Amino acid sequence: MNLILLGAPGAGKGTLSAYLIEKMGVPSVSTGNILREAIANNTPLGQQAKEFMDAGKLVPDQLVIDMLRERIAQDDCKNGFILDGFPRTIPQAEELDKIASIDCALALEVPDEIIEGRMTGRRVCAKCGATFHVSTNPPKAEGVCDACGGELQLRKDDKPDVVKHRLEVYHEQTEPLKAYYEAQGKLKCMDGTKGIGETAELAVKALGL
Ligand code: AP5
Repeated sequence: MNLILLGAPGAGKGTLSAYLIEKMGVPSVSTGNILREAIANNTPLGQQAKEFMDAGKLVPDQLVIDMLRERIAQDDCKNGFILDGFPRTIPQAEELDKIASIDCALALEVPDEIIEGRMTGRRVCAKCGATFHVSTNPPKAEGVCDACGGELQLRKDDKPDVVKHRLEVYHEQTEPLKAYYEAQGKLKCMDGTKGIGETAELAVKALGL
C-alpha cells in the first residue's frame, strides 16, 4: 500500500508511522527527517533548506519533489511506503500523482490548541531521530533516548512563535490537500486526539489492516 499521512505539524504523523512500519512492513519516508539529516551533514540541499525550516516555512517545492522522487525510487519502497510530511502543497501532490499511485491519504485531525502542547513537550533524539514527549510518551531516563542512548533535544522549529507560523502555513497550504484527495476518493479522516495506542488502533481500523 502507498499511504500518505496528512496532518498538522505535531499531529502525530511521525509517531503513527513508526507504528505502521511494523504493521504494514513498508518504510516510512519523512521529508522532514531527510531534510534535517541534510542540514546535519551540511549538504547543498541542507544549506538551501535550513533557513526555511528554522523559520517554519515550507522548503521550495522543486527541492522537495526531487528529493522525494529519488527516495521512493529506492528498492525498499517497491512494495509500498508511508509518506510522512509529503505532499505539503497542491503542486507537490500533482507531481506525486505522476510518479506513484497513491492508495490512501489518512488525515489525523487534531485541533490547534492540542498541537501546541504536543510540540513544546516533544523531545527528539539527536542521534537516531526517535521521538518522545515529556508527559504523553516519556523516555525511561530523562533526556536519554530509549532506542540508542542518544541525547534528547527540543527541535529548533518547536519554539512557540515558530509553531504558530507552521500552523498558519499548514492551514493555508497543506489543509487544501484533504479536498484534493477527497475528490480522488482516497481521503480517510480520523480523530488524532486520543492517546498514542488508541490512535494506532484507530488507524489500523481505518486502513483495514
Ligand atoms: P516535518 O518534520 O515533516 O514536521 P511536521 O509536519 O511539522 O510534523 P512534525 O514532525 O512536527 O509532527 P508529527 O505530526 O510527525 O508529530 P509527532 O509524531 O512528532 O517538517 C519540518 C519542516 O521541514 C517543515 O516545517 C518544512 O520546513 C520542511 N518540510 C518537510 N516536508 C516538506 C515538504 N513536503 N515540503 C516543503 N517543506 C517541507 O508528534 C508530536 C509530539 O506529540 C511528540 O512529542 C509525540 O510523542 C506526541 N504525540 C504524538 N502522537 C500523540 C498522541 N496520539 N497523543 C499524545 N501525544 C502524542
